[in-house]
Amino acid sequence: MHILITGGTGLIGRQLCKALLAAGHELTVLSRKPASVPDKCGTGVHAIASFGEWHPSQTFDAVINLAGEPIADARWTDQRKRLLWVSRVKLTQDLVRHIASAEHKPKVLLSGSAVGYYGHRSDVALDEASKAGNNFAARLCEAWEDAAQGAEQVGVRVCLLRTGLVLSNNGGLLGHMLLPFKLGLGTRLGGGKQWMSWVHIDDYVGSVLRLLHDTQASGPYNMTAPQPATNAEFTATLAKVLHRPALFVAPAPLLKLAMGERACLLLEGQQVLPGKISAAGYRFQFANLFDALSHLLRK
Ligand SMILES: NC(=O)c1ccc[n+]([C@@H]2O[C@H](COP(=O)([O-])OP(=O)(O)OC[C@H]3O[C@@H](n4cnc5c(N)ncnc54)[C@H](OP(=O)(O)O)[C@@H]3O)[C@@H](O)[C@H]2O)c1
Repeated sequence: MHILITGGTGLIGRQLCKALLAAGHELTVLSRKPASVPDKCGTGVHAIASFGEWHPSQTFDAVINLAGEPIADARWTDQRKRLLWVSRVKLTQDLVRHIASAEHKPKVLLSGSAVGYYGHRSDVALDEASKAGNNFAARLCEAWEDAAQGAEQVGVRVCLLRTGLVLSNNGGLLGHMLLPFKLGLGTRLGGGKQWMSWVHIDDYVGSVLRLLHDTQASGPYNMTAPQPATNAEFTATLAKVLHRPALFVAPAPLLKLAMGERACLLLEGQQVLPGKISAAGYRFQFANLFDALSHLLRK
């Protein structure tokens, strides 16, 4: 297949490109820095800087849409919220317009979303039928999903990737946590009861490959491991894997002061279960957090 990937240079995208190249697919990555694509995604990967370079006669068999300004990197000012919105919702609307005008349409669009779709839901176990939340992150995910679903109107199969916290040894959440934990400064966040719906990068990539090829798959998919952990469990497990203590607590008011509205990403969570991908027969390599962290940190 020839596959177009937006956000292919990111944490998930790079790993996905590696797996798709190994499976023999031809790849084109949309990037604001197209010259960096072969380095980040693999030699032989084509790059485009805008959808304007997608000529209607060019055929992509599938599209994977992962682009988006990082959500946790800066305070959610009005300007930042606009950037988070435009880089996901508007980019996806543009993508769907180009899909609609392509002479040969892709068979499938796998499009990004996040478990933030469900908002703050304390201890309720959530599956794909659960309703959306109503904070900024939830509204962003809902609009991002709505934009992608537009491709169904031109006959494209659409799967929505409600992504949990992706664990990888190349950055992301673990990249931020590792140094303080290694220094014995591991810290529980607030009360520690908030859920962290994590997924090992290998299972994320494995699930994407499944959704790419399973012609029956459509709609939302929770991209999370079957055993989510609370923040207190996550903190204790990471400390155990690293053989370090984690004795500190970051008080919620302090985090709110330091981070503003985006502190909800750390202090509020959701217990999300991968109902549909499990029902489709996907078998997780890493269902258990201790095994996932041990595998990643041993590498
Ligand atoms: N990693 C996680 O734990 C996690 C959890 C939930 C949801 N997600 C979502 O899944 C997607 C992929 O995650 P990731 O961790 O791989 O993200 P990432 O490492 O931050 O990569 C995202 C990619 O999006 C592109 N991008 C960034 N800002 C952009 C902008 N303003 N306009 C257009 N493109 C922009 C970048 O590509 P170029 O620089 O090449 O243009 C970048 O490589 C993201 O949308 C993210 O929100 C990730």
